[in-house]
Amino acid sequence: MSKVTVVGAGNVGATCANVLAFKEVADEVVMLDVKEGVSEGKALDMFQTAGLLGFDSKLVGCTNDYAQTANSDVVVITSGIPRKPGMTREELIGVNAGIVKSVAENILKYSPNSILLIVSNPMDTMTYLALKATGLPKNRVFGMGGALDSSRFKCYLSKALNANTNELEGLVIGGHGDTTMIPLTRFATYKGRPVTDLLDKETLDKVVADTMVGGATLTGLLGTSAWYAPGAAAAYVVESIIHDQKKIIPSCTLLEGEYGQSDICIGVPAVIGKNGVEAIVDYKLNDDEKALFAKSAEAVRKTNSVLNGLNVL
Ligand code: 2OP
Repeated sequence: MSKVTVVGAGNVGATCANVLAFKEVADEVVMLDVKEGVSEGKALDMFQTAGLLGFDSKLVGCTNDYAQTANSDVVVITSGIPRKPGMTREELIGVNAGIVKSVAENILKYSPNSILLIVSNPMDTMTYLALKATGLPKNRVFGMGGALDSSRFKCYLSKALNANTNELEGLVIGGHGDTTMIPLTRFATYKGRPVTDLLDKETLDKVVADTMVGGATLTGLLGTSAWYAPGAAAAYVVESIIHDQKKIIPSCTLLEGEYGQSDICIGVPAVIGKNGVEAIVDYKLNDDEKALFAKSAEAVRKTNSVLNGLNVL
């Protein structure tokens, strides 16, 4: 019997729960939200699609009743406010830090063995905060940004190459920020061929630029943060945990010397299985990529330093 809780039944959380149930990733999916009736309503609405879509996962919604989340294997934390057009993810830190910390603490009272997957923004800093605030081992607290950014990278590559997304490989490492993420063009392939052989520099540069502002573009169009890809990305990571798939997924995890960094949570390729982050994979970056990664880490560290003034660590 597998159980996944999604905290925050906003657009991202609800999409994640919907994908988890539709794909039968877990036997039971619980949504918890602070807003009276919202998660109950969305869970029931989704449950009413089971007879149409043919899934057997159960969906439960609750308002702040953490007892209902008891014994979850994985908890996806999406709580907090999303960004508005023109805002960076980093600007959300003041409000979201307190929320994420209190959610993580409440969850662990009822699911002391759960793995926490952080989605709330600024995701790298929220992951670092959740890790420090809970004192959990690093394999059990990590962030999902790299799965999302890599999927966006593949989306823009697919448009540029007029190729199927699922025949593409592409990884994005670094921070989950408009200026901190690093689409690794050198490692991206289409049917085993390097995309650097298939696209000219100008086109590839545009793919990289579009990927980096993939979220901001949608915030501009929608008036709030995106949700289909973020929700599906979180569900993709949860699936690799619950089914012990051991997929290599760029994930925001604590570094202790890997990629030349320590005391920071930031995106690197990681093996994701039933124990959460089971290994960090060294992709042997070249000097240019190393320099980008160091710059990205510096920016994430600067955002982390804001936590010191918030009295949450
Ligand atoms: C995004 O990039 C919500 O951070 C998320 O769309």
